[in-house]
Amino acid sequence: MAGAAIDYQDLVRRDQVHARLYYDPAIFEEEMDKIFSHHWVYVGHESEVAEPGEFVCRWLGLQPVILVRDRKRQLHLLMNRCRHRSNTICQVERGNAAGGFRCAYHGWTYSPSGELTGLPYSVGYDSRDFRKEDYGLIRVTIESCHGFIFGNLNPGGHSLLAQIGAARPLLEQVINLAPAGEVMLRAGLLKHKYRANWKMTMENVLDAYHPPVLHQTAFHLGTGKSFNWDSVYGPEGNARTRDLGNGNGQIDFNAQNRKSGFFFQGLKGDIDESAQRAYHAGLAKRLGQERVAQVLGDSDPHFSIFPNFNYLPPGQVRLIRPVSIDETHIYYFPVMLKDAPIEINRERIRRSGYMHGPAGLVAPDDIDVYERNQEALKARQDEWVILRRGLRTEQREEDGSIVGMAYEETTQRGLWRHYRQLMTRDANGAI
Ligand code: FES
Ligand SMILES: [Fe+2]
Repeated sequence: MAGAAIDYQDLVRRDQVHARLYYDPAIFEEEMDKIFSHHWVYVGHESEVAEPGEFVCRWLGLQPVILVRDRKRQLHLLMNRCRHRSNTICQVERGNAAGGFRCAYHGWTYSPSGELTGLPYSVGYDSRDFRKEDYGLIRVTIESCHGFIFGNLNPGGHSLLAQIGAARPLLEQVINLAPAGEVMLRAGLLKHKYRANWKMTMENVLDAYHPPVLHQTAFHLGTGKSFNWDSVYGPEGNARTRDLGNGNGQIDFNAQNRKSGFFFQGLKGDIDESAQRAYHAGLAKRLGQERVAQVLGDSDPHFSIFPNFNYLPPGQVRLIRPVSIDETHIYYFPVMLKDAPIEINRERIRRSGYMHGPAGLVAPDDIDVYERNQEALKARQDEWVILRRGLRTEQREEDGSIVGMAYEETTQRGLWRHYRQLMTRDANGAI
């Protein structure tokens, strides 16, 4: 007999969520279906597969896929599953398959666009039972925005742009930092793996309550002890959290960036002056002189697109990969500004490692905390995780976004509200 349906209306409340959402494998299984198989999921950036035949292996939830550019430069997202007897046809994380893919089990071959091109001893099939053209690799729908590619196993008429919604100008803020108006994610990547639930990192990336505490060391090393962090994060501070709808959110540092160059503008630090001038000139050529100051003032945004895409200063994309209820992998890609001087991009890579690398000053602290969170969830006397900061003071703005002070839990509430909608819809997508 099937178990009782999980009551997400009860588990996800306006001001608190139940611990079971982080530790129950049955919930993880439903998430893989209702979220990761019925929603736009980030799989990679066009620049990762810029050349014909280039591919990267990724996942839609637990389902393995290959993002590949075919010989005619078309992009495809293919299920990484041989149509014969099920076998991954590709095991390496990236490479060039201009010559096609070959299954290692019985040797079926596929073109980079997924057509079945050959099979050993094909006489073993009668044409009444088997047609080669019916057994290409399964294709998944993809859409992209400014080069960022998302896949959806069941789009059901819901577009990527509708999902990205109010987060779209933030992607534009990113590409505007590049003289060419494009970014590239081909400078390698960092990986972290942690023993805790995937949603913790999605909540954490929008949590501006913790940095002055958990990341105190990084802040002191970066700015010296004299900087007053309350002026950014505290009650008098000018950073804000912004619930953008659809589970997307932002920590809005724009005002602070304009005031003090708070986050890394690519023009600070140990960058040679002539490189700075060349970068400026490159931006001015595309945007016009007046907009350069504004674009550099806003600098890198800090935001998240549900369920698995994060963008953080300094120029870092994170792809979140859920592996099980209590295991998650994170891929960090330094974001290179196309046509910027090498000194600027080198500095962005250096700062990514400095903050998020294995010995970095920020990400390892967060990851330790996720694992401690997961451990603490085993204490079952009070199973609620509260989300009440700013509940009564947050404001809805004209564009529909909901804004709170940096230290409030506005964005986490937005994330959970969207989660509950997805988890309570029926098989037809109705909520
Ligand atoms: S499983 Fe791939 S060729 Fe048989
Ligand atoms: Fe953090």
